[in-house]
Amino acid sequence: VKDWNGIDQVVLRVPRGASARVSLHGGQVVSWKNERGEELLFTSSKAIFKPSRAMRGGIPICFPQFGNCGSLEQHGFARNKMWSIDSDPPPLKNDDDKGKVSVDLLLKPSEDDLKCWPHCYEFRLRVSLTTNGVLSMISRVRNINGKPFSFSFAYHTYLSVSDISEVRIEGLETLDYLDNLCQRKRFTEQGDAVTFESEVDRIYLGSPNVIAVLDHEKKRTFLIKKKGLPDVVVWNPWEKKSKSIPDLGDEEYKQMLCVDGAVVERPITLKPGEEWTGRLDLTAIPSTHFI
Ligand code: BG6
Repeated sequence: VKDWNGIDQVVLRVPRGASARVSLHGGQVVSWKNERGEELLFTSSKAIFKPSRAMRGGIPICFPQFGNCGSLEQHGFARNKMWSIDSDPPPLKNDDDKGKVSVDLLLKPSEDDLKCWPHCYEFRLRVSLTTNGVLSMISRVRNINGKPFSFSFAYHTYLSVSDISEVRIEGLETLDYLDNLCQRKRFTEQGDAVTFESEVDRIYLGSPNVIAVLDHEKKRTFLIKKKGLPDVVVWNPWEKKSKSIPDLGDEEYKQMLCVDGAVVERPITLKPGEEWTGRLDLTAIPSTHFI
């Protein structure tokens, strides 16, 4: 299908009704719905769907730089580029979920891209939806250069929540984090869970491979499983910062929470011919399952 600007999107749908939509612009997942048709990702009502920038919502890919500590534009260029579909992707390995649907997108540097980041790479992003509606993303970055290069990375995941004040994240307690609001100074998480009552912009370091985002009001829990992604970025702009973001409504911070599987503190270095894999599996479970 095409979006409002005529940019191609791929729709993944499984028989029980869950679906996901991926845009070739940025390789960005722009929608993920459960089998009841409920949208699980946040998209701003002020989102701008223009080829030169990432849409505010969904899951933009931050590569080869997370944030603005580096020579590139904030969060790197991958989210602003057109990706292509690999119509003959390598087969899904060791997978007994026969109902799984997936698409492989590719990003390779153009001549112009090499001027701002002079490294030859191939980035393969596989987005899959399982029979049970689990959204799975596998990123593979291969160095096809003559020399090593380094990068940081994040799946900048905008989860849709009912009321940010009622949400908690479990799995990050006792971890150290870098606080983006204090020049990335290092602190240790003291709470039993991460909760929200003001702006939060943190990079939790060396996190467990499963964390949970509990949305009490919606009675929904997101499970975030990850591999190759040691850090977790947690971001909510809250009231004041929201007003300075043109493509975010003033009150919309209440309905969104970014929880990103990421590699930030220690960038990945790939030697010629080497490949890195970073995988994220998102599951949305009705909380009643836990009672
Ligand atoms: C977060 C960063 O991940 O992304 C924030 O930690 C940043 O500092 C936010 O403001 C949004 O970035 P952008 O470039 O999409 O507006």
